[in-house]
Amino acid sequence: MNESAAIPRPTGGPAVTTPLLQTVGLRKSYGTQVVLDRVDFGIDAGAVKAVLGPSGSGKSTMLRLMALLEPADDGSILLHGREIGTESGRAGAARLPERRLARQRAEIGMVFQRFNLFAHLDVLHNVTLGLTAVRHVGKAEAAQRAQAMLERVGMADRMRHYPSELSGGQQQRVAIARALVLEPSVMLFDEPTSALDPELVNEVLVVMEDLAAQGMTMIVVTHETGFARRVAHEVALFHSGVIVEQAPPERFFTQPEHERTRAFLAHVH
Ligand SMILES: Nc1ncnc2c1ncn2[C@@H]1O[C@H](COP(=O)(O)OP(=O)(O)O)[C@@H](O)[C@H]1O
Ligand SMILES: [Mg+2]
Repeated sequence: MNESAAIPRPTGGPAVTTPLLQTVGLRKSYGTQVVLDRVDFGIDAGAVKAVLGPSGSGKSTMLRLMALLEPADDGSILLHGREIGTESGRAGAARLPERRLARQRAEIGMVFQRFNLFAHLDVLHNVTLGLTAVRHVGKAEAAQRAQAMLERVGMADRMRHYPSELSGGQQQRVAIARALVLEPSVMLFDEPTSALDPELVNEVLVVMEDLAAQGMTMIVVTHETGFARRVAHEVALFHSGVIVEQAPPERFFTQPEHERTRAFLAHVH
């Protein structure tokens, strides 16, 4: 949502909308290294947020925590305003048992830098596996839904190919279809084009841009500033585990408030 389209707020009051996905005071350390330092981050339904920042600043860690792939040390994650991953009780917040985590994870689609397709399965079965094995959808229906999703990413003519027979861009489009077929309410992308040869970047960005145009809620960690500028409603800069600046793209790229943002932009441009 850009600012002019945002739902008006009562002056001085809190936001009217609840973010679709939100972190509150999220903290994570590995050993003595603080990787996320009380991160408050959120995304509204239908919005696209681009997350920029130097390597090692905590971007992937935030996505992994939001996708419930790892527990946070402190803070909470809210989906549709409800706590996920943990349950707060008198003794503090406790990690949910794996079965409940699995159910909550289904709402959050994730696409990684390295596509992580199953090498021993063809394209069709890479996409149907989550439906048949996790959702217990029948084979025929799963194949139908997978085919529709593969059409959406322009890969329906490669259903019988194995990952090793595809380019990186094609593999990444299959990975996107695999996440989408489970009908998540939000998609998290962790540098989806960073492992691709330059000439293959665009075919993946086009698919993502199309997804955004259709109203998918998306958080995209990326170094593609052109994409961020064109597609994102807001851009956030991470540095050393904190969000330094967050603004609509016009302002972020042309009138950044923080010295760190200026330095980062000078470096990438
Ligand atoms: N599983 C892990 N064990 C130990 N350190 C980790 C682990 N994952 C990430 N880190 C460290 O946390 C910091 C942030 O990593 P990451 O979230 O991957 O950053 P980014 O995605 O911004 O490059 C880095 O210093 C990284 O080395
Ligand atoms: Mg990363």
